[in-house]
Amino acid sequence: MKRFDLSELSAGEPYKLLASLVVPRPIAWVSTVADTGVVNIAPYSFFNLLGSDPPIVALGIAPAKRTGEPKDTGHNLGAIGAGFVVHLVDEASAEAMNQTAAELPAGESEAERANLEPVYDTVTVAVPRIASAPAALECRVAEIVCVGNNRVVIGEVLFVHLQDRLWDDETRRVRTEEAHFIGRMHGGGFYTRTGDLFALERPR
Ligand SMILES: Cc1cc2nc3c(=O)[nH]c(=O)nc-3n(C[C@H](O)[C@H](O)[C@H](O)COP(=O)(O)O)c2cc1C
Repeated sequence: MKRFDLSELSAGEPYKLLASLVVPRPIAWVSTVADTGVVNIAPYSFFNLLGSDPPIVALGIAPAKRTGEPKDTGHNLGAIGAGFVVHLVDEASAEAMNQTAAELPAGESEAERANLEPVYDTVTVAVPRIASAPAALECRVAEIVCVGNNRVVIGEVLFVHLQDRLWDDETRRVRTEEAHFIGRMHGGGFYTRTGDLFALERPR
């Protein structure tokens, strides 16, 4: 076995090691609003659903490489109580999602750069959702936990938008197998599709 004492690795190596092991990671494509009103959109793969009563999600936000300051998403979530919207990313949105990962100055909107249409029909948050995303979760910030340079934002999910084609009204289930969501893999630019399924029966 290779053995790694993370305290002895150089800066950046723990990330490379662990982000290559904890895969695939779901991607939260997050919209927030700055105090100036600019709509900010960015992808976060330090993300998961962490509980259901109440439903909570968490995002891990690192400082911006260029400035060492909080990324715009982290800044916006800490600064004003407008909440945020987490969109799930499908294959059709992959290219646009990637475009929104550019570290733009706070005054510039990734929505415009990636040609994304914001829809102002959210119910519980003062933040628009992305029209083309297959599903959108409206969240309020429940807590922000800082561990070293990480900001972990815990959000309570309050409202869900889902494209009609992804809902089976008879079984009251999401047609996940038709959503074609993607996950983030190892390395800078690798992703995976989610079409290769198998099922296991749970032991009683
Ligand atoms: C697929 C993907 C996942 C990412 N996940 C994270 C993450 O979990 N945490 C993070 O700090 N940055 C992550 N990034 C980088 C941010 O998206 C990037 O720094 C972005 O510019 C931040 O935007 P903001 O300043 O508007 O919040 C990710 C980038 C991509 C392409």
